Amino acid sequence: CSPEIFELNIPILGICYGAQLIAYMRGGVVEEGRKGEFGRTELFFKPDSELFEGLNTDGRLNVWMSHGDVIRSLNGAEIIGYTKNSPIAAFRITISNSHTIYAYGIQFHPEVHHTDNGDKILWNFLYRICGCERNWTMESFVRDKIEEIKREAGGSKVVCGLSGGIDSSTTAVLVSRAIGDNLTCIFIDNGLLRAGEAEEVLNTFRDRLKLKVVFVDARERFLNALRGINDAEAKRKVIGRLFIEIFEEEAKKIGADFLAQGTIYPDRIESARAGSGSKASRIKSHHNVGALPAKMGLKLIEPIKELYKDEVREVAKELGIPQSIINRHPFPGPGLAARVIGEVTEEKLRICREASRIVEEELKRSGWYDRVWQAFAIVGDDLATGVLGDARSLGRIVTIRVVESVEAMTADFVKLPYEVLEDISRRITNEVRGVTWVTYAISSKPPSTIEPC
Ligand code: XMP
Repeated sequence: CSPEIFELNIPILGICYGAQLIAYMRGGVVEEGRKGEFGRTELFFKPDSELFEGLNTDGRLNVWMSHGDVIRSLNGAEIIGYTKNSPIAAFRITISNSHTIYAYGIQFHPEVHHTDNGDKILWNFLYRICGCERNWTMESFVRDKIEEIKREAGGSKVVCGLSGGIDSSTTAVLVSRAIGDNLTCIFIDNGLLRAGEAEEVLNTFRDRLKLKVVFVDARERFLNALRGINDAEAKRKVIGRLFIEIFEEEAKKIGADFLAQGTIYPDRIESARAGSGSKASRIKSHHNVGALPAKMGLKLIEPIKELYKDEVREVAKELGIPQSIINRHPFPGPGLAARVIGEVTEEKLRICREASRIVEEELKRSGWYDRVWQAFAIVGDDLATGVLGDARSLGRIVTIRVVESVEAMTADFVKLPYEVLEDISRRITNEVRGVTWVTYAISSKPPSTIEPC
C-alpha cells in the first residue's frame, strides 16, 4: 500500500498479511517460515501492552493463525507477542515523527471466532488506542436510515422483493417506515418454501405490520421450469432467472423508480469474490445479489448493506418484527430445491417440506432450535427397503442436516443427543408417506457445504 499511510499521524493495526506488510515497509525481514502456522496456536503476549490490556494476566492466549511466511526481524519494533513458530507475532513500532503514535502488527486473526477475546483486542485498538467514540446505536441507525430513505426516495414508488427472511423483512419495514404506502412488496410463492411459510409471511406483513404486499402464486411456473433438471447448478440458474422474470413483470405493473434490496455485508463480500473470479466463489452461484437492478433500470436502496446478520437482527427487533421471523434459521434463495437432490418433483418436495417441519418442531421441543445455525431435511432419489405392516416396501432415504456456524463460511455438524435424533427419525418414518430410512449428515464445511445442492 501507499507508504504515505505512515505519515498520516494515525494509529494503524495490521492483521496477518497486514502485519507482514508493515514490517516489510519499515525495513524488516519477512521470509518463508520453516513451518507454517495454521489453526489454533498459543500466543505469549505482554499483558501490559495497551493492545492486550484487560485480556488476562498470565500472558497466554489461544489465537487463530493462517500464514506460511513469518516476520523474522524488525529493527526498532517492540515485540509484544510471540508463538512457537513466529518470533514476532505481535509488535508495535513508532511511526511518523511522533513518538506517541504507533503502528501495530498482529500475525493472528482477532476477527475470527476461534481467537479467544479477539473482540477485546479490536476494542482496545479502537477505543483505547485510536480514541474512537461509541456514538452509534441501533436507534440512531434506524432513525438516520429512515431519514436517508425519505430524502432519497420520498414521493417515488419503491418495490421490494419479500422472501420472509430476516434481511428482506427488515429492509421492507425500514423503507415502509420512511415512505409508507409508496412501498409495494412483492412476495413470490415459488413452490419451494417451507411448510406454512407463505401464510406466515402474509399474516405478518400484510395483517400485522400493515405493509402493501402483492402475492404471486408462481408454484406451477417454477415446477414446470424445473422439470427434468437434475444438475444442482442448473436448477439454481433456472430458479434465479424465473424469479427475475416474474419480479420484473410485477414491478412493471407498479411503475416503480426504486428497488429496495436486503443486501447485507457478507453478501457483498461473496459477490465481490464472485466478480473477481476467485475459486471461493464458484462453489455455488448465489443468485440473490446484484442481478435485478442492472437489467431493470431501477435505482437501488440497500439500507442494511453495511450490517452483519446479528446487527440486522437487532434492527429487526427495534422495528417490531416478530421474534418468529427474527429467530428463524436462514433459508437459501433457491429454497427447498437446494435440499432436493436431483430432479425437483412434487413428491420429493412434499417429503422434504414435511420432514423439515418435523426437524424444526423436534428441535424447538428439545430446546435445540435456537442453539444451531440451520436444521433441515434432505431428500434424493435413492430408495431403501422398509417394512410397512408385514409387507416389504421401498421408500426414500431422508437425511437430516443440523449445523452450527457463525457466518456460514465454515460449519460443523451438531452433536445432537441420540434421543433427539431418535424422535426425529421415528416421526419422519411414521408421519411422512414414502420414507423408509432416516440418516444424519456428519460432514462439516469444508469439505461439504451446508446445503447439498
Ligand atoms: P452453503 O450451502 O454454500 O451455504 O454452505 C452457506 C449458507 O448460505 C445459504 N445459501 C444461500 N443463501 N441464496 C442465499 O441467500 C442462495 O442461493 C444460497 N445457497 C445457500 C445456506 O442456506 C447457508 O446458510
